[in-house]
Amino acid sequence: MTSTTAAPALPAEHPLVDGRTASSALVTTYRGQRGDVTPVWFMRQAGRSLPEYRELRVGTQMLDACLDPELSSEITLQPVRRHGVDAGIFFSDIVIPLKLAGVDVDIVPGRGPVLAKPVRTAADVAALPALDPAALAPISAGVARTVAQLGSTPLIGFAGAPFTLAAYLVEGGPSKDHLRARTLMHSDPDAWAGLLDWAATVTGQFLRAQVLAGASAAQLFDSWVGSLSLADYTAHVQRHSAKALLAVADLGVPTVHFGVGSGEVLSAMHDIGADVMGVDWRIPLAEASRRLGGGVPLQGNVDPALLSAPWPVLEKHVLDVLESGKAAPAHVLNLGHGVPPETDPAVLTRIVDLVHSR
Ligand code: CP3
Repeated sequence: MTSTTAAPALPAEHPLVDGRTASSALVTTYRGQRGDVTPVWFMRQAGRSLPEYRELRVGTQMLDACLDPELSSEITLQPVRRHGVDAGIFFSDIVIPLKLAGVDVDIVPGRGPVLAKPVRTAADVAALPALDPAALAPISAGVARTVAQLGSTPLIGFAGAPFTLAAYLVEGGPSKDHLRARTLMHSDPDAWAGLLDWAATVTGQFLRAQVLAGASAAQLFDSWVGSLSLADYTAHVQRHSAKALLAVADLGVPTVHFGVGSGEVLSAMHDIGADVMGVDWRIPLAEASRRLGGGVPLQGNVDPALLSAPWPVLEKHVLDVLESGKAAPAHVLNLGHGVPPETDPAVLTRIVDLVHSR
């Protein structure tokens, strides 16, 4: 599903179509062309590591902030201004499409998404509500507002993959091994398929809304995919992830797929139709590239733990990652997972300067 030009299905004023972002370092690298400078951005660059974020969030619940176009836009722009990263990633959350569909979900600070009523049976799955496209208006407005201010810096839209969403829906909150979800997958495969199909539909709608409103790339996060065997992934998950990504396939924006602990399933994840693979910190980029057959642009994979190590240690690690990334046709520097909240933001700026100076 690799494409070299933006499809006519995008509006004429979309930044990939009107020329603002088509030749940006991020977009060209995602399309497989290695430029002079390696582009860099950080997963979870918007958020608690930034004092200006913490200040802006005082008195506003996380999901309310996501649904306020002025706030979501300002929070998205904060790390772009501060660090000079090569992309913004829209400030939102993977559970927003669930919430907009009417699922009772909240984000508990320090914990994560929590559901009032977990989805555990075929009847629970059948009762999941459809997402009215009109409910996505605050997302489209937030993206449009952000893109208007980003100029030639591309905005990345994102969504959660069906398995990661199902892990929250079935467990009712964060969990370590997603045991209940994996039990349901086998004890009631039909209910499981119905659940993942629903999740693929709503998360695809969320992703498509961001791209139509101006996002120049789309990243699908399957954060908890590492708890699956390859056999379970291919039998019970893969086609639903493919369906989620299919929601933007006709729009011609580059797509990125990322999971934590994805070494065993990396190639199967790529097969859903992703252009670029995000890699966590567990395998070197050169090894990821080898597993993918050598032709796939990569994104990653600085170990977030090293953000708090002395600069010379971190600097060497970043240079090693850049070196390893040369095995792939093209490379966007990122972390192997999100920015930890306790990260000193000055360290992130320093990484950007280092990567841009090479
Ligand atoms: O800067 C960015 O990367 C964009 C914003 C973004 C958020 N969530 C904001 C957020 C993105 C891309 C996400 C995706 C997301 N949300 C994922 C996939 C990426 C990943 O990290 O694996 C997942 C699994 C979630 C679910 C979720 N939402 C978790 C685990 C948490 C953290 C809970 C906590 O307090 O530790 C959230 C809340 C959340 N999403 C915060 C932010 C900035 C923290 C909320 C706060 O400020 O209180």
